[in-house]
Amino acid sequence: MKLSQEKAEALRARKNSKRISCLTAYDYPIARLLDEAGVDVLLVGDSLGMVVLGYPDTTHVTMEHMLHHVAAVARGNTNALVVGDLPIHSYDTPEQALANAKLLVAAGADAVKLEGGLRQADKVKLIVGAGIPVFGHMGMLPQRVLEEGGYKKKGKSEEEFEAILAGCRALEHAGVFAIVLESVVADTAKRLTEALGVPTIGIGCGNQTCDGEVAVITDLVGGYPWFVPPFAKPQTDISGDITKAVQWYNEQV
Ligand code: KIV
Repeated sequence: MKLSQEKAEALRARKNSKRISCLTAYDYPIARLLDEAGVDVLLVGDSLGMVVLGYPDTTHVTMEHMLHHVAAVARGNTNALVVGDLPIHSYDTPEQALANAKLLVAAGADAVKLEGGLRQADKVKLIVGAGIPVFGHMGMLPQRVLEEGGYKKKGKSEEEFEAILAGCRALEHAGVFAIVLESVVADTAKRLTEALGVPTIGIGCGNQTCDGEVAVITDLVGGYPWFVPPFAKPQTDISGDITKAVQWYNEQV
């Protein structure tokens, strides 16, 4: 078994035991700081489209962007599992999904993430069969934001719970090591977590409803003041500190 598969297996085995910490990272210094601080998973998320590249949503992110940032993060990492997002339209067919997953791994990713359940199960199976761990993503799917007309909360009805569960089960059977649940109603996220055999990693799903948490690093450190999601809990104000440092510098100059 490869080291990346061993790391993913170790995370899968933490279901119902030690909670999993996951943060996004997009460059060398942040990856190195987060890894040295002991985070379990560094996610090179396609959220980089917004918080690094200045696009309005993730639908503008390409494989070229992802490869560039995955390589930078991998150079800063020693211990964490590095996950690279497969961006929109990079996994439309199983063959394309496998080819692009291999490119992310060649750039330095240990694992890849893709969005969706039933429609992605055959792709997950193929990628996992090639020895590449896959992280699922259910609930609100940011790559579908334009089709859905915004970022909507998921899992509000019994019907929606059943649909998300069916997608998660398909991913689980296809071999994912964990599943991100995004913007799922807290009670539904808790029920999904209890029903599934793989860890769920929540974002915007309430407190302690999943087996772990993922956050966008700029939300945690106050690095993107122009949009702060309601569930973000900033622990510092990097933007304010930068502004103060630059004002001091201007005065000195
Ligand atoms: O792209 C990303 O950062 C993500 C997380 C929000 C889970 O997919």
